[in-house]
Amino acid sequence: MTKISMNVNGKAVSRDVPDETLLSDYLREHLRLTGTHVGCDTSQCGACVVHVNGRAVKSCSALAASLEGAEVTTIEGIAQNGELHPMQQAFTDHHGLQCGFCTPGMIMTGVDMVKRYKAEGRDLTAQAIRHELEGNICRCTGYHNIVRAVEDAAAKM
Ligand code: FES
Ligand code: FES
Repeated sequence: MTKISMNVNGKAVSRDVPDETLLSDYLREHLRLTGTHVGCDTSQCGACVVHVNGRAVKSCSALAASLEGAEVTTIEGIAQNGELHPMQQAFTDHHGLQCGFCTPGMIMTGVDMVKRYKAEGRDLTAQAIRHELEGNICRCTGYHNIVRAVEDAAAKM
């Protein structure tokens, strides 16, 4: 067992966990933040994406023990003062989800790509959004509305 401390959604947390604990399990099983989904556990689906030190990461592919002291943001941490994040609102407005299983990962990936493109002064076209979403699988195949939602949120963020 190892004591792992992080800052998750703005709160200092600390848990004794087995050495091999994945970040996804640390969040879901030890912190009970179950908004982060696990769809494959083999780094393919993107349902588990969270932000680590400001960048999107597949949490099923990261060892919690390697993230001592990290700043982690999950889907539970992006709404502010009771208001949905613009990306969450855009997914609602554009019906960017069906079963919703992929949605937390899509939203966290979407927020990351918008921030990155804006910081680099690059144009986030529909084609670029599709390319950026390559690591996120929607089994309901709702990609058109997901792309529209990211485009809309990008204009508002
Ligand atoms: S659960 Fe992490 S990529 Fe599928
Ligand atoms: S909305 Fe069902 S997997 Fe994407």
